Amino acid sequence: MLGLGIRVRLIRGWYAWKRRQRQRARTPLVRQTVERLHIGSGPLVRPGWANVDLEYHEGVEHVLDVRDGLPFKDVRYIYAEHFLEHLSWDEGLRFLKECRAALGADGVLRLSTPNLDWVWATQYRSPSPDAVHDCFAMNKAFRGWGHQFLYNVGTLTAALHAAGFAEVKSFRYGESDDLVLRDLERHEKSPDDDALPHVVVIEARGRREARDESLERAVEDYDWALRS
Ligand SMILES: C[S@@+](CC[C@H](N)C(=O)[O-])C[C@H]1O[C@@H](n2cnc3c(N)ncnc32)[C@H](O)[C@@H]1O
Repeated sequence: MLGLGIRVRLIRGWYAWKRRQRQRARTPLVRQTVERLHIGSGPLVRPGWANVDLEYHEGVEHVLDVRDGLPFKDVRYIYAEHFLEHLSWDEGLRFLKECRAALGADGVLRLSTPNLDWVWATQYRSPSPDAVHDCFAMNKAFRGWGHQFLYNVGTLTAALHAAGFAEVKSFRYGESDDLVLRDLERHEKSPDDDALPHVVVIEARGRREARDESLERAVEDYDWALRS
């Protein structure tokens, strides 16, 4: 009979193996070359970009579920606004790896996604003048609109490094060092203050392979809780 400690380690090892399979990037059989990819455009399609969405809207050339892979190569720019939070952690990490694979050597990924720090600071007051309202507001942020996982700057940065990006830099809404990536955000704005933007806007480029043990521990704990 195996001791309890060994059994727990075996189960955790099995979970870790399954998790690695879920997070592994797929290799599409056919990849199309495009210069600019706009993922999860919804109806806010961008002229001059290959617009991708799960649902058809006028101007969406690629109606596909990116959870099935990203069949593109040599991409110079990938942009996704208010999209990443619609994927679970595993799906999101796999998507980031697939973006890295689809981008060319000088390619850049720009993401804009709700800022968990902003949600926490603005939606949940403690002590609260209306605890019931705040309780619902927080749950709405996590579960509303199909949201699956909310990020702060630190976690999205760690995820991008784990996906194989070397350089990660945050920007303000509409700002970028690269002219092509400036003034792209269109999604409705929530009231910001300078220290606390309502969205995390981040660009990632370059390649690197590195392990982040603190991220891996946090993910293991989260995954264990999700599957228990
Ligand atoms: C909140 S909307 C954002 C639309 C637009 N980018 C904006 O900022 O207003 C999220 C979009 O992502 C699309 N989407 C969600 N999951 C997707 C998936 N797995 N593959 C492709 N598109 C997806 C949805 O259909 C939707 O149009």
